[in-house]
Parts: sequence; structure tokens; C-alpha cells
Amino acid sequence: MKHLLDTASLDRDDIDELMELTDAFVEVSQRPIPKVPTLRGRTVALLFYEDSTRTRLSFETAAKRLSADTMTFGVSGSSVTKGESLRDTALTIEAMGVDAVVVRHRSSGAPHRVASWIDASVINGGDGWHDHPTQGLLDCYTLRARLGSLTGRRIAIVGDVKHSRVARADVWAFAALGAEVVLVAPPTLLPPSVEGWPVTVAHHLDDVLGSVDVVALLRMQRERTTEALIPSLREYTARYGLTVARARRLGENAVIMHPGPMNRGVEIAPEVADDPRAVIVDQVRNGVALRMAVLFRLLGAEARSAPAVVDLPAEPAEAVRA
Ligand code: CP
Repeated sequence: MKHLLDTASLDRDDIDELMELTDAFVEVSQRPIPKVPTLRGRTVALLFYEDSTRTRLSFETAAKRLSADTMTFGVSGSSVTKGESLRDTALTIEAMGVDAVVVRHRSSGAPHRVASWIDASVINGGDGWHDHPTQGLLDCYTLRARLGSLTGRRIAIVGDVKHSRVARADVWAFAALGAEVVLVAPPTLLPPSVEGWPVTVAHHLDDVLGSVDVVALLRMQRERTTEALIPSLREYTARYGLTVARARRLGENAVIMHPGPMNRGVEIAPEVADDPRAVIVDQVRNGVALRMAVLFRLLGAEARSAPAVVDLPAEPAEAVRA
């Protein structure tokens, strides 16, 4: 695997391998010094054309825990504000010597374009409405940690599917692991067609609550003019929000997910976000180890297996302080 651009290209074996690697890096992350020398001498560039907290910081943390150097790029303060193109920016960063580039961009397909221009590995950190593969994979990992296996599990993905790269990433990753996915949204917040997607569709959250193992909520994307597609946020919450009353109808072992950032009180009630069945903090925590696994898979020695990762020595304390 050279690039990670979407989850639809991954099969069950690919995902299982990344889950096993993530197990190993969770163990590394729990060490007193959570750092291994695996990617020493490698450089990971973070090319973020769109805002991010979780993805940017967790990739940066993941790279540093693998002893890679990092190069962080944000549009504000860069020569993009002077009109420099994405291609010229990518070539400029590559000329400085990078092994991997994480790309977040408002345009679907931007990471694919970058991958066609440079030799370094490219990881899609979220592109437009298209995909967010590391989010899909960390969601798989988090569910496996809670449920054991996704095979036969029924997962409702609820909300603004139309604009959601997380929904697309989750659909293909969950389905590859044998889950049954139901999209729950008003017609205006669904893509024009889901033909070919491994999903069923429902329009009423109340109809599916009694039959699902997982409720994966999506953020209402106000920056993508979502509000024009619903009568009001209040009505959206009344019909699709995971309220306290609706959460009571879920089983005691049900799992509640949200990729963040949350609109508390819109798609999820504040109390439900803090419910013991909610794994929202676990998703963030697992995101670091999952991204270590992805960087290792793309840049580390291909022949190394998960046990070999666990056996890697921690950095000496002196070196870490330096
Ligand atoms: N879930 C997610 O992608 O969050 P950020 O936009 O903060 O990276």
C-alpha cells in the first residue's frame, strides 16, 4: 500500500491488518514514554487547507511517537494566500524532502490529485464530501474494542449523509467488516443516489432505534449550507437528534459514536454525549494509535508484523527530552 485515499479500496484483510497494528500502537501509547524509533529520519508533512483539531493534532502526535519529523502547513500565513496553486504547493513541500503528506482539502479528490503529482505517500485527511479514511478506520477500531466484532452488527449512520465524508468512509469500512449499515436521514440530507452503496435507508430515527447495535451520529455541517436543506435546526433535532428520551430506547450495550466536533443540543443531547455508552473520547484516543498504524504501514518496513512493533524499544529518556 503506497497511499491511503479512501476506505472503499480496502478489503477486510487490509482493515484487519491495520486493526492489529493499532493494537500494538495502543500498547506503545500506554508506555511511560510513548515513543518508538520506527520512523526516525522520515518526514511527514501535514497539508491542511481546511480547519481541523482532531485529525491534524493526532497525525502530528502519531508521527512524533514514531520519531518522524513533522512539517505543518496551514493556508493562513502560507503563500496560498498569494495565489500559489495546490500543485505548486505540493511540489514545493516535496522538494524539501518528505516521505508522506497528509492532505485535508475542501475539494473532493484533492488528495488523489496530490498523489498523482508527487512521489511521497499521500494520506487523505478528509476531502470535501468524499472520504476521511482514517476516521472510518478509527471508528472500526473503536467499535471492535467495544463489540468484539462488527460481523452481523446493525449500525445506524444518522444525519447529514449528503455532505459527510465520514459517512462515506464509515459505510465502506463497516460493510467490509460484515456490518449491516442503515442510513437515517431526511431525503434532503441524503445523496441523490446511494445505488451501489452497501446500505439500506430509513427516514425516521424512531423506527430503527430498537433494532440497532450502534448509532453513529453525523455533524450538521453548517459551513456547507446544511441548514437550507431542513426546515429548522429545532425541527431537525426533534426528528433526528439523539435526545435523552431516544437514548433510553437503546440497549444497555449499544454504542453511541460521533466523529466530532459535536453540535451539542443539535444532533446529540449534551447528556447523551457524556453517557457511558458514548465512545466519543475513545474515538479520539484511538485515532492517535490508528494513525501511527497507518504511517507505519505506509512508511515502515513492510515485512514487519504487529508483534515486532510491540517489541520495538522505547526511545531512551535522554533522547526524548532532547
Ligand atoms: N473528526 C474530525 O475529522 O475532526 P477534525 O475536523 O477536528 O479533524
